[in-house]
Amino acid sequence: MNFTLKIWRQKSAGDPGRMVDYAAANIIPDMSFLEMLDVVNEGLIARGEEPIAFDSDCREGICGTCSLVINGVAHGGQKGTTACQLHMRHFTDGETIVIEPWRAKAFPVLRDLVTDRSAFDRVIQAGGFVSVNTGGAPDANSLPVAKVASDRAMDAAQCIGCGACVAACKNASAMLFVSAKVSHLSLLPQGRVEKDRRVAHMVKQMDAEGFGNCTVTGSCEAVCPKEISLSFIAQMNRDYGVALLKGTK
Ligand code: SF4
Ligand code: FES
Repeated sequence: MNFTLKIWRQKSAGDPGRMVDYAAANIIPDMSFLEMLDVVNEGLIARGEEPIAFDSDCREGICGTCSLVINGVAHGGQKGTTACQLHMRHFTDGETIVIEPWRAKAFPVLRDLVTDRSAFDRVIQAGGFVSVNTGGAPDANSLPVAKVASDRAMDAAQCIGCGACVAACKNASAMLFVSAKVSHLSLLPQGRVEKDRRVAHMVKQMDAEGFGNCTVTGSCEAVCPKEISLSFIAQMNRDYGVALLKGTK
């Protein structure tokens, strides 16, 4: 397969950046999107040109590192699929493909398609943990967890922290990410102890990082590679309201 790529190139955070055209030739349909970019980069390096910078790590859809807006859609528009798990067979031979980084004030572009997503780390540092001393490993049945609660906690725990929800949202809201991280801990007995403080601190940090508010357009849920449900945002709003009413600081 052959493609024309229009790729965002930006030397550094201060560089205004621009779209540059590249040819991707002789691409095997079963290559992943990132493997296709590897092939393009091999050609650039062979010609002595600067390769295109992009993020990746696991390339298995589990780490949340890959972060490309492909033809205007975060992760490329295949339902429940990260950019690293997107394959070239889903494109049309001869197609022009536009590739951009996440676009959000809280995720500044560092270089080309690489953005700084440390804002998410700081939100997690604000409360995304369980700090009780659990001692040794407890007996398996000493802390029963209802199946409904464990299933819902695991649904939330699927969030890989990629940031596609922010990139897709017109408000650059991080509420799908934050609500997933708040919920997967607070739904379980071990995480319930710090529930109020967790949600208050994480929402405060989310606002401080410059993420926008949620206006329930649902674009986050539509692009989320782990199909995190919007209902977690509703749950976080309830938990946040309760924490405020209790005067949680
Ligand atoms: S909620 Fe979905 S889109 Fe947002 S960071 Fe988590 S996995 Fe990525
Ligand atoms: S590189 Fe790990 S999820 Fe894509």
